[in-house]
Amino acid sequence: MFEHPAFDDHEQLIVARDPESGLRALIGIHSTVLGPAFGGCRMHRYGSEDAALEDVLRLSRGMTYKAAICDLPLGGGKAVIIGEPKQDKTPALLRSMARVIDGWHGRFVVADDVGTTLADLAVMRDVTPHTAAATLAAQQPLAVTAYGVLAAMRAAVRRHLGWDSLSGLRVAVQGLGNVGFPLCGYLRREGAELVAADLDRRRADRAHAAFGARIVPPDQVLDQEVDVLSPCALGNVLDEVTAERIRARIICGGANEQLSRPDIDRRLQDRGILYVPDYVANAGGMIDFHQERLDDRPEAVLRAVARIGEITTQLLDEAALGGRTCKELADARVRERLAAGRRARAA
Ligand code: NAI
Repeated sequence: MFEHPAFDDHEQLIVARDPESGLRALIGIHSTVLGPAFGGCRMHRYGSEDAALEDVLRLSRGMTYKAAICDLPLGGGKAVIIGEPKQDKTPALLRSMARVIDGWHGRFVVADDVGTTLADLAVMRDVTPHTAAATLAAQQPLAVTAYGVLAAMRAAVRRHLGWDSLSGLRVAVQGLGNVGFPLCGYLRREGAELVAADLDRRRADRAHAAFGARIVPPDQVLDQEVDVLSPCALGNVLDEVTAERIRARIICGGANEQLSRPDIDRRLQDRGILYVPDYVANAGGMIDFHQERLDDRPEAVLRAVARIGEITTQLLDEAALGGRTCKELADARVRERLAAGRRARAA
């Protein structure tokens, strides 16, 4: 376990089982150095327990990185429930998961993720207060993650393509769910031209009807001749094969863990493709959670999330000076902040 490539000094990892409700779950707390761990609860029919373990470890670590790069007083964690949401998700199973989370007394705060919804969090709140979206304002569909991706994309387009506007920008969006669909809406409003794909044909049809997106088969969306590719489905889409195929000049999307290996980022850069680190572009939900505790008015939340644009610009400017990729620089920043946090905690 400690040698697992994704373990990366996790503070805690627990296996949760409840035969009554059918719960089979893993919860990782990667770091609480900067604050209580915050992360989504994913429900997915994993091919193996190893795949679930890999997912929870990588996603939990990613949450630490999101918080640190945005200077939030939060840490990183993640929960995964092994199961098919449509078949296996029941109130009893969610309450069972919530009991496990409650046992940490706030050391881990759970949010929604792929396979879970705000309504599921409401069920969990019967058992534990340690959930996101607990206020009425948080129930408003602000699409904060998509808004953050938009801010990061705007910054990347300005720096890498020299364009001040997104009008006429050609963007391919992979995945039209909670993140990809509203992102299409934001982009369309700015005058971008959309190409999109989803495994679920109804979602694709909806994006075509709402935003005029040109729909392509899911296995062709990465190959499109566009300015920006926006992965908004699942992770690991960028590997040694796809990195050679992609024709976009910028990759900026909401999906977590887009790189199958850390060095893929370098390969992309060698091909002149700018990769905006996923954990920078998709930090909107985490910023939202923090901001809501300070001032939960929609305009305050969106202003806070828009900071992702400034963070991206700073990273791009500094990375260009030092010959590093944006991700190499961001990773180094995060490590510095965690080291400083550990020193402060030990003092
Ligand atoms: P979702 O489940 O609402 O939507 C994902 C969509 O991608 C689904 O419509 C699915 O059919 C589609 N899809 C899956 N594989 C595909 C493929 N190979 N090609 C085309 N379409 C495919 O999920 P959601 O919430 O939109 O999240 C998307 C990604 O963003 C995930 O990686 C998630 O971890 C990440 N994320 C989501 C946040 C949120 O606020 N919802 C926050 C931060 C990250």
